[in-house]
Amino acid sequence: MNLSVGVISADLLHLAEDLDRLAAAGVRTLHVDVMDGVFCPQLTVGPAFVAALPADEFAIDVHLMIDDPLDKLGAYVDAGATAITFHVEATRHAHRALQTLSGTGVARGVALNPGTSLEVLAPLIDDIEQLLVLAVNPGWPGQRFIPATAARLAAARELIGERDIVLGVDGGVTRENVEYVASLRPDLIVAGSAVFADGAVLENARSMLAATLNADDSRGSTPKLALAAAKQGREHGSSSG
Ligand code: DX5
Ligand code: ZN
Repeated sequence: MNLSVGVISADLLHLAEDLDRLAAAGVRTLHVDVMDGVFCPQLTVGPAFVAALPADEFAIDVHLMIDDPLDKLGAYVDAGATAITFHVEATRHAHRALQTLSGTGVARGVALNPGTSLEVLAPLIDDIEQLLVLAVNPGWPGQRFIPATAARLAAARELIGERDIVLGVDGGVTRENVEYVASLRPDLIVAGSAVFADGAVLENARSMLAATLNADDSRGSTPKLALAAAKQGREHGSSSG
């Protein structure tokens, strides 16, 4: 199980220091929430921010909450993303978007809002390496984890079956509920505001990472994001797990 840390919740004026603290805590994956002010109200960062991140040290897990992502995907591939996840609700051409990412070396992901049925995945399930189940409605860090997410994760796991797909959960994960969320058996947990809370980055990251690793012990699985990207032929900084 992997912890992907939502860096838009970091102290952006002291990002390098925060990244050093994350690395010291053992975090190997950064989650970048790209919001365009259309698909969701906020406007955050773009390809230039992604390109500035140290991809030799971290896997870069780009979460696109942008409208009509199809012709914008290439810019994130060029920026050095390890995985690119777009929302099925944001495009009329989800399959074409996956075709566009195929062969680029980037792990292909789709994300679902809490209100979107898992049935939309059926025609896409054999063309993705990552599935991100949102536990909040996209737009802001610091929201509450929606309880119905537990059943959606179980149904998604069922749908994935034996396929080599990273099942991720995003939003509302805190130091208080991370063990519970880990018990729901995702492969990837995204956490943002909780990691940077009170500026105690090292302590928060260590504590949340420990919770994911404890849950892992019983399953002995290797962080999958690197595996998914490797399958697509792109090596990134998470080779040390
Ligand atoms: C929500 C984003 C999440 C969020 C995570 O729209 O996709 O990644 O920023 O932040 P927390 O962990 O604070 O909910
Ligand atoms: Zn996200």
